Amino acid sequence: MAILVTGGAGFIGSHTVIELQNAGYDVVVVDNLANSSEKSLERVEKITGKKVPFYKVDILDREGLNEVFAKEKIDSCIHFAGLKAVGESVQKPWEYYENNIAGTLTLVDVMRKHNVKNIIFSSSATVYGDPAMIPITEECPKGQCTNPYGWTKSMLEQVLTDIQKADPEWNVVLLRYFNPIGAHKSGLIGENPNGIPNNLMPYITQVAVGKLKELGVFGDDYDTPDGTGVRDYIHVVDLAKGHVKALKKLEDHSGLNIYNLGTGHGYSVLDIVKNFEAATGVKIPYVIKPRRAGDIATCYSDASKAERELGWKAEYGIKEMCEDSWRWQSMNPNGYDD
Ligand code: NAD
Ligand code: UFG
Repeated sequence: MAILVTGGAGFIGSHTVIELQNAGYDVVVVDNLANSSEKSLERVEKITGKKVPFYKVDILDREGLNEVFAKEKIDSCIHFAGLKAVGESVQKPWEYYENNIAGTLTLVDVMRKHNVKNIIFSSSATVYGDPAMIPITEECPKGQCTNPYGWTKSMLEQVLTDIQKADPEWNVVLLRYFNPIGAHKSGLIGENPNGIPNNLMPYITQVAVGKLKELGVFGDDYDTPDGTGVRDYIHVVDLAKGHVKALKKLEDHSGLNIYNLGTGHGYSVLDIVKNFEAATGVKIPYVIKPRRAGDIATCYSDASKAERELGWKAEYGIKEMCEDSWRWQSMNPNGYDD
């Protein structure tokens, strides 16, 4: 039996395929390559020494998905496929609702037709909105999202919750990621944003490699120790390993479960700049800019539920996150483009 990984050519998906293969699982990847390159999977094969069966299929393509399920013996799905650029989602809400929501509804329908009722869904700390408590536990009420991307995550959590409630044969794990950074130790795979990066770490690494002039720090007047935004950065390999643990939870037929995947530590933007400089020896020039619309001051997890129930805990610290992000960027200044 195999695990279907939708969006498996992407940043988190490709790292998760490695951890799944290392744990002995057979994996099948579906991706439309809207935001990724097939080269990531070639590199995964190089790292694990195992083939990665790949189908270039859109999750909106019911027939395409049907063929994959008919051909492969799929037992569970880890569902990463989705569009994720916050700013773009404000400009193109229809495209985000169509791709993420209609895509997931199609996937789930094809799954149940093939009697596959185990799914792990990539959700986000964004569903907490401006969080009612810090650190954020899973008990923290969901909040008002500030963009359509966030709403797709919040709505899809509800959709999957209701489907599981109506049919207890479903096993659903909702994983709320905090801020994934870092890359595989080999430097062969990593985050490969299109155009100018929206997120902090890829922006920093592109400054470091000389593609961008300086970092803009979005606001230094938040109610945080140094005035800049505080987030819970987590190494993508730790995050990937969290999925392997979550899969074991699915195998226990445990119904619906929700977990934060974070480290439980908050770092400010300037902490990240300092840690990156210390870990790599590369100076990051920065200027303070106005706050970015929709940003919150502080967001970090209480990650103890995942430790208690999944036996999962993040192992890498900020130093490795910075070193590994930098190794990937410096070995691949243009990402997967030659
Ligand atoms: P990514 O863009 O690198 O990976 C997503 C993959 O999905 C891409 O390879 C893309 O080509 C594919 N995809 C998109 N729409 C598709 C469709 N209709 N059919 C088939 N494939 C499709 O992003 P990532 O950072 O690896 O994120 C993976 C998941 O985790 C996403 O659902 C994202 O929303 C979620 N997430 C990411 C973060 C983060 O900061 N990276 C935080 C929280 C949640
Ligand atoms: N920041 C800057 N300059 C930049 C980019 C970011 O100062 O060029 C700051 C932001 O203001 C924020 C921090 O760095 O304080 C982190 O910003 P990111 O854009 O890297 O991450 P966010 O926390 O805003 O959002 C990310 C993902 C969302 C996801 C959320 C979940 O982009 O999709 O984490 O925690 F929902």
